[in-house]
Amino acid sequence: MSRPKFVAGNWKMYGSLPTNASLLSAVKSGSSSLKAQIAVCVPYPYLAQAQAELAGSNIAWGAQDMSEYDKGAYTGEVSGSMLTDFGCRYVIVGHSERRSYYGDTDAVVASKFAAALKVGLTPILCVGETLAERESDITDKVVIRQLDVVIATSGVESLTKAVVAYEPVWAIGTGKTASPAQAQEVHALIRSHVATANAGVAAGLQILYGGSVKPGNAKELFGQPDIDGGLIGGASLVADDFIGICAAA
Ligand code: 13P
Repeated sequence: MSRPKFVAGNWKMYGSLPTNASLLSAVKSGSSSLKAQIAVCVPYPYLAQAQAELAGSNIAWGAQDMSEYDKGAYTGEVSGSMLTDFGCRYVIVGHSERRSYYGDTDAVVASKFAAALKVGLTPILCVGETLAERESDITDKVVIRQLDVVIATSGVESLTKAVVAYEPVWAIGTGKTASPAQAQEVHALIRSHVATANAGVAAGLQILYGGSVKPGNAKELFGQPDIDGGLIGGASLVADDFIGICAAA
């Protein structure tokens, strides 16, 4: 099965109204003729701005996290239906920064994933090992564990409505990219693991790579058989770099 390439920007906690306006308009015009699927995941306060700027374009938008609850007395939280109110198609769940700084456990991530599906959002589920885990040779175990909690909660078929992003924690924001072969190895593992439960789901599943993707390394990464695009942090804040990466896809 040939899977469409997908590039999503994760702006993290960067941006301002004026800088977003120029970034969004540059990305919109620079990517209008590209074939890849493209999205930007922006901070909550800028969802309305992303919607106003990107509606009718070939770029989708989304958020970087959401609550596992529908509504309630959860000060500071944002629900999935609030995201759909602003036209979001995607939401990142389980980013390593959420897991490590904000206590998002595998179980919480699985609940957020389920809550996203419930309101029709496409979750971008992040998985990936730390440097210590890679050095202890437990990368496979960690990634499978992170995936299995979601599969146990929502079922393997739920992955037909989701995207997985493999982001080795040691490659995020460090300038240290996984080599294409290293990334491909884990992507293939993810796909074959899903295939043990459902081969058709595995064949159609978009698996993105994230971690120091730049225009200069994107093409080789995206050329690997099981790498279907990228989740881009730092380079998604620089219009030319982001467009370059989307062009590589
Ligand atoms: P960088 O591209 O800045 O390494 O970040 C990757 C990432 O965390 C995307 O979610």
